Amino acid sequence: MQTWSDRAVVAAQVIQAQVSRAPTIGVILGTGLGGVAANVEDGVTMSTATIPHYPASTVRSHAGVLIIGTISGAPVAVLSGRIHSYEGYEPGLLGFPVRVLHALGVRTLITTNAAGALNPEFSPGDIMVIEDHLSFPSLAGRSPLIGTEPEPGLRRFVDLTGAYALDLRRLAESVALDAAMTLRQGTYVMVGGPNFETPAEVRFLRLIGADAVGMSTAPEVIVARQLDMQVLGLSVMSNMAAGLPGALLDHDDVTAVMRRAAPNVARIIRGVIARLPA
Ligand code: HPA
Repeated sequence: MQTWSDRAVVAAQVIQAQVSRAPTIGVILGTGLGGVAANVEDGVTMSTATIPHYPASTVRSHAGVLIIGTISGAPVAVLSGRIHSYEGYEPGLLGFPVRVLHALGVRTLITTNAAGALNPEFSPGDIMVIEDHLSFPSLAGRSPLIGTEPEPGLRRFVDLTGAYALDLRRLAESVALDAAMTLRQGTYVMVGGPNFETPAEVRFLRLIGADAVGMSTAPEVIVARQLDMQVLGLSVMSNMAAGLPGALLDHDDVTAVMRRAAPNVARIIRGVIARLPA
């Protein structure tokens, strides 16, 4: 039977045929952050629809393109547009883009998302470095690692302690400090979506220790850790979560806040990549 890793190798071969340099850094752009892709230099852009086995994204603010080029001189692969659990995909498929990045040579993953702020001290537009996550889908039996025994060399029982690399978090902090930008830190909670939470659910998520809530990222990080990639997660507060003062929960409002935050996200990404040890 063909595994997700086998399919990722096939996908990577098709991509590699179109580029001259293997990327070592992967970037996944969340809702409304597609503009960050403009920071890629000497980029080769391909539609993810041309990549074998790649699932189609059904979210209108997600472009579905892969751009391979450089940022701050380092070879990157940027995925603009991601696939979500709420689109109805089976859990294993949610990690497929990360397996493709790994097959291309990516060993450092920077993943970004839009999130609702649960922490009342946060404001829309704030960027939060993810310290750790809570993943409801994984806790409920929908981990992206669900399935048959992984191939030799890959762990099934992946340790997620320190999943978000301390070194990369520190680098992001130093970039923000030098740019006089506020950078938040906290715990991200993944929920299934696509409906937003009820105010009662928001109170519950806050109570269990989360600072930001979103509908993505955790499956990618879990697969990245299975593949021993180093991960930096950035959440952009697109809105205050339901029931909190100032909560605006329209998808278009969320996207508009994200577009405005995109230059700051790009600044952090460029700075982190520039400071990564070679
Ligand atoms: N809840 C869940 N996911 C989100 C939100 C939210 O408030 N905002 C952006 N993604």
